[in-house]
Amino acid sequence: MNLKDYIRSIPNYPKKGILFRDITTLIKDEKAFAETINQIVKKSKKFKVDKIAAIESRGFVFASAVSYLLKKPFIMLRKKNKLPAETFSVDFELEYGTATIEVHKDSIEQNDSVLIIDDLIATGGTAEAAAKLVEMSGGNVSAFIFAINLFDLNGSDNLAKKGYHVENLMD
Ligand code: PRP
Ligand code: ADE
Repeated sequence: MNLKDYIRSIPNYPKKGILFRDITTLIKDEKAFAETINQIVKKSKKFKVDKIAAIESRGFVFASAVSYLLKKPFIMLRKKNKLPAETFSVDFELEYGTATIEVHKDSIEQNDSVLIIDDLIATGGTAEAAAKLVEMSGGNVSAFIFAINLFDLNGSDNLAKKGYHVENLMD
């Protein structure tokens, strides 16, 4: 099964010039969704994983299924003002403007090895902010796994250059 066949590409969404890679067409096919999760689980076996962290909101779709299969704790990295208890917070750049993601201060323990999962990496800004949250919490990023790597934006390569382990299911 070629997972790329299940990704729908929509030109000029959400802005002119952006080719949006839509995963709704992948996850509505139960076989393609299961295959995606199985491939992520397989790639995760190379790394020490104490906990799985995922980035709101598309990251949650994949990471919670992986967390269930690996029987590892699941940590939500959420957009600003969504988490109710005390948080660590990181501001980062998007293509247009800035964004903030947060994690509860008691989600990650000192020296936890945390696998970060998201549906897609583009510029890598979101992923780097996620890594900062893990590190501010005292944890280590064991690896990143993305379903889709938009390789022309270099996010995945930049993470690798910084010394992180990065796995992508498709380019
Ligand atoms: C998308 C995607 C990644 C991020 C990648 O999320 O799910 O998290 O963009 O972009 P970057 O590598 O340039 O930072 P989005 O912010 O659109 O939120 P969503 O998952 O809630 O749709
Ligand atoms: N997030 C950032 N860039 C994206 C793209 N081109 N398609 C889908 N999600 C994205």
